Amino acid sequence: MSKKIFLSGVQPSGKPHLGNYFGAMKQFVDLQKEHEGYVFIADYHALHSLRNSREMNENIKNVLLDYLAIGLDPKKVIFFKQSDISEHTELAWIFDTITTMPFLMRAHAFKDAQAKNKEIDVGTFNYPVLMAADILLYGPDMVPVGADQKQHVEIARDIAEKFNNTYGETFKLPNPMILKDVAVVPGTDGKKMSKSYNNTIPLFAEYEEIKKCVMSIVTDSGEGIPKNVYAIHNLLRPASELLSLYESKAGKYKELKELLIEDLEKFIAPLREKRKEFAKDIPTVLLILKKGSEQAKIVAAKKMEEVREKIGVNIY
Ligand code: TYM
Repeated sequence: MSKKIFLSGVQPSGKPHLGNYFGAMKQFVDLQKEHEGYVFIADYHALHSLRNSREMNENIKNVLLDYLAIGLDPKKVIFFKQSDISEHTELAWIFDTITTMPFLMRAHAFKDAQAKNKEIDVGTFNYPVLMAADILLYGPDMVPVGADQKQHVEIARDIAEKFNNTYGETFKLPNPMILKDVAVVPGTDGKKMSKSYNNTIPLFAEYEEIKKCVMSIVTDSGEGIPKNVYAIHNLLRPASELLSLYESKAGKYKELKELLIEDLEKFIAPLREKRKEFAKDIPTVLLILKKGSEQAKIVAAKKMEEVREKIGVNIY
């Protein structure tokens, strides 16, 4: 029986945090053991918020190091860069022609931007269409993501159906894969951990940074269990262990935070060290990504051939 395929992408938008790791990145490392996989750096997606070439360049290299450090194995997973595969933007255009504006206006990201009276660029509006192309080119059975991306995967599914109904069976319908416990990893203020809320704990934080982040976790003045501290701690230790510990130290917020700092350091230190090792040889690391892109290109080009055939532009 052939292995099931997973695919996911991550924007090179700065340092990853525990939300990215537990919500998505860790799943890729777990899934690669028994599945075929595609993981890619969504650099074209990041363009809507990142318009500085030097920063973009650095961020791409950083994401590459991040993934290798957490144990993504390029022998098991095709790890590539979106902008190396022009088929993504080509297919997005074709999808544009069968996708209506009212349909895209229902997307949360668009509605949020509109509610905040932001000037919305066409790229942001079209974001889910490019994401549909990212996914559908590779025919994955599942798309492991955090809860915030669920709607995007559903949109990809709808676009695949529309294309199949219009031009004949071409795309496999994808399913989001969201781990319930980490669908929304909370930040230091209890809201979803996100760079835009300034409430993150970086995945590769140095000890002093971990300390600073944990000390800034918002606690209500009370006698009980500090729920924001507990929620982050629960990413590292199961409730069966944590509950009795927190009950025995009810109200002792400082002590509980110190315990969390130690546990975070134990978890992060080996990842940090591995990342530093990879960073010593950037040319080799870049070659890994280049090779991955070459492999992805073969798959994407084949699918695009089929799409061109279906829409009737292949005449030679
Ligand atoms: P991005 O780069 O914002 O985030 C990468 C992944 O991390 C998850 N995530 C979280 N999960 C749980 N709790 C949190 N606090 C948290 N913060 C982030 C995200 O859900 C995501 O899975 N549009 C995507 C990138 C993308 C993509 C794709 C993903 C482009 N094309 C095709 C899958 C398939 C994004 O912006 O993710």
